[in-house]
Amino acid sequence: MFPGQNSLRIVSKFFALFTLALPLLFTGCAWTGRTSTLDPKGPIAQIQFDLFMITVYVCVFLFVVVGGAFLYVVWKYRERPGQPETPIPQNSHGNPLIEIGLIASSVFMLVIIAVPTVQAIWITHDMPDRPDSHLGAYYGGEFLSPGEEEEVLTIRAEGYQWWWAFEYPQLGLTTGNEFVIPAGKVVRLELRSKDVIHSFWLPKIAGKVDLIPGRNNWMWIQAGNSYNEWLLDQGLPPMQEGHRAEYENYLEAEVYDMYYGQCAEFCGDSHAYMLFRTKVVSPEEFEAWVAEQKQPAPAPDGGGDWGAWFARALGDPSSLAGDPIQEGAYLYHTKGTCIQCHKVEGSPSSNGVLGPDLTKVGSRTSLAAGWMDHMSADGGINAGKQYENLVDWIYASQDIKPGNLMYYGDNALQHIINPEDPDANPLTREEVAKIATWLQTLQ
Ligand code: CUA
Repeated sequence: MFPGQNSLRIVSKFFALFTLALPLLFTGCAWTGRTSTLDPKGPIAQIQFDLFMITVYVCVFLFVVVGGAFLYVVWKYRERPGQPETPIPQNSHGNPLIEIGLIASSVFMLVIIAVPTVQAIWITHDMPDRPDSHLGAYYGGEFLSPGEEEEVLTIRAEGYQWWWAFEYPQLGLTTGNEFVIPAGKVVRLELRSKDVIHSFWLPKIAGKVDLIPGRNNWMWIQAGNSYNEWLLDQGLPPMQEGHRAEYENYLEAEVYDMYYGQCAEFCGDSHAYMLFRTKVVSPEEFEAWVAEQKQPAPAPDGGGDWGAWFARALGDPSSLAGDPIQEGAYLYHTKGTCIQCHKVEGSPSSNGVLGPDLTKVGSRTSLAAGWMDHMSADGGINAGKQYENLVDWIYASQDIKPGNLMYYGDNALQHIINPEDPDANPLTREEVAKIATWLQTLQ
């Protein structure tokens, strides 16, 4: 036995195992999975996908040509029986035809990739000035000034460790971790960071752009084709009316959906849990959503006056006993210290800005920046799961998303409640459950 033979055997065994395990690795891939870039649902994602495929075709061509030549040479100059001396083929080094030919074909391959790349950079860099995407063109907009009406819908995405705030400055509303956009319309995103570098990535709709502290980046996104793009796609002449119903069918079948995004830049312990969701709806549904989101939270006693409720609750907390919604709201505003970081529009004292806006938290399909899911099969809210998630999250958020700023245990904001302090009085699980019951009513 030669000395190297043993290690050779180990290596070949390893390769055999690796080859056998390869299909297992591929089962983790799904062509149309939630965050697949191979299933584009908007023009920007489509441009990027096409660019990727051009690169793939070029690489496959090179692989076949170079690999084919290699196999041919190996086969042609193989050792034959009865021919102990393998002749060394003539060396073509320095042959000008081959040298120049190889350089020229490499440059040609690069040009094939470079031209569409530069085109794609221009397209994604310049926001299309499309009249049907102007706010005034589709949005009733009673709260828009005339100047704003002609602007494209703008969403300000702010990254925090580890969640997202989405503000619609023209419409005067803010939401957290989930936002809604109308299908087929150009949307301008303003990207800002409140702490470290994050990256906005909504794979099926657009590529990534970083959120950098002290610098405003922007990108434009669009879910689904506009009517004219769709006509073009169908091989129909542009601006032709009469196909609106088919276009609506296309949106219904292909575009209206929940899309899943992810922070794509390492930003600390819980970077992997910094997700978000984007719901794409029809313009009519979008308007209804805006009107709903602009409503302040009702007072906990069923929609009366917040001031009066506060005076009653603070004056005689025992009057709330037996009503978990009112008790929960009371705990949220007093013992829970929640109001230091969270805002609930309507409440006179919950005006925090460090955490997500909770005015409509009950209407969101997830919690903890998309990490805890409670979306039902039909896209609505699974109330039982939502309640469970709220209780688990508020009670033990550090176990779920380590390092977040929510009060809890040893790693929490020590200056709010120190667990070693004999006077410390943390929330019990029963109290947390009541807070969750109230938060669920914020829809
Ligand atoms: Cu934010 Cu990673």
